[in-house]
Amino acid sequence: MSSFIYLNSPARDRLYKSEGVQSGTRESVVLTFHKTIPEYNETKLHSLPDVAKELGLRHVLLKDESNRFGLPAFKILGASWAVYRAVGSHLGLPVLDAGISFEEVGVKAREAGVQIVTVTEGNCGRAVSRMAAKHMGIPTKVFVPSFMDEKTRAKIRSEGVEVVAIDKSYDDVIPVALEEVKARENTILILDVSVEGYSTIPQYFVEGYSTMLAESDRQVLELTGGKAASHAIVPVGAGSIGEAVTAHFKNSARWKDSELVKVLGVEPITASCLFNSLKTGKSVSVPTEDTIMCGMNCGTLSTTAWPVLRDGIDAGVVVSDLESHNAVQELNARNIGAGPCGAATLAALRRACTDAKQELGLDDTSIVVLYCTEGQREYPVPL
Ligand SMILES: Cc1ncc(COP(=O)(O)O)c(C=O)c1O
Repeated sequence: MSSFIYLNSPARDRLYKSEGVQSGTRESVVLTFHKTIPEYNETKLHSLPDVAKELGLRHVLLKDESNRFGLPAFKILGASWAVYRAVGSHLGLPVLDAGISFEEVGVKAREAGVQIVTVTEGNCGRAVSRMAAKHMGIPTKVFVPSFMDEKTRAKIRSEGVEVVAIDKSYDDVIPVALEEVKARENTILILDVSVEGYSTIPQYFVEGYSTMLAESDRQVLELTGGKAASHAIVPVGAGSIGEAVTAHFKNSARWKDSELVKVLGVEPITASCLFNSLKTGKSVSVPTEDTIMCGMNCGTLSTTAWPVLRDGIDAGVVVSDLESHNAVQELNARNIGAGPCGAATLAALRRACTDAKQELGLDDTSIVVLYCTEGQREYPVPL
């Protein structure tokens, strides 16, 4: 058996019963909310017919998150809903059904002296800052590990926030942020990762990602003449986007048995917490190393993502930096501006077709959707 793919066979026979995170009603509220954000756009779904032909598949489709509300990654979908929901709930405002504009929530937050604190290695902090500071005018403090390069810090700062570098790893910066939250009234911690005792706000991120899935479901039908996806491949870091995709496609209230989509999660070989957790049957932390797939460089899964992935995901795939880089180049050559995290999905599809095509039911009837979560960016080219 391949050492790059773990087939999660118990889950393949089980239906994940959604507990409402991705319910249709919530999804339409989130979409209505997203449509009020400046630069709202529906991202493209590209067809890659030559890749499909080469791999013997019916369709390979790529959801291109390289420009989401003016930012180069999908994260703002979750961050915008999380900031709005968390601040609104804190102030007792009717945000559950998006019954108040984010501008009004911002005004009330400023009157009440609300402050936002977050911790980031990049995309998430910028997305939280764009929503909280730029769109809602809420003072925002962003803690970053000191190894973050100055370019990334400057991008976050450009959203109008204070960036504070701490000489610790991401995981160890979280307690520093928590101290800040405790020390100051009306301070709200916004993170996309759930840890013991902190899970409500990360779930808002997961809800926010439903807009991407609602869009791609419809776009798949349009591009295939009415046929739905059979496989979905999603990048996994701490697992929140993977949780959203798995909950969406394994929701027995939404899909009939015959329509169930197989979900594959891809990770860097050097940060394979899902792969190892699936193998072990419990959520385990793994040591991590530098990778060009920065957003996926996580050693531990979000506590709320793990049970959903354990029960619902069909396979964990690991790819190297070189495979991801080759996929970036392959997509760039087709005029798709993908970054390493997004392109990792194509690398995973290639790996799946080489190592476990039959086991994963990949054949000439398959319609595969790749969730390409970020746009082109600079990175050190692997040798
Ligand atoms: C571009 C990109 N793709 C994928 C991921 C992985 O998302 P998650 O941590 O929800 O698994 C991240 C996380 O920040 C990211 O920035």
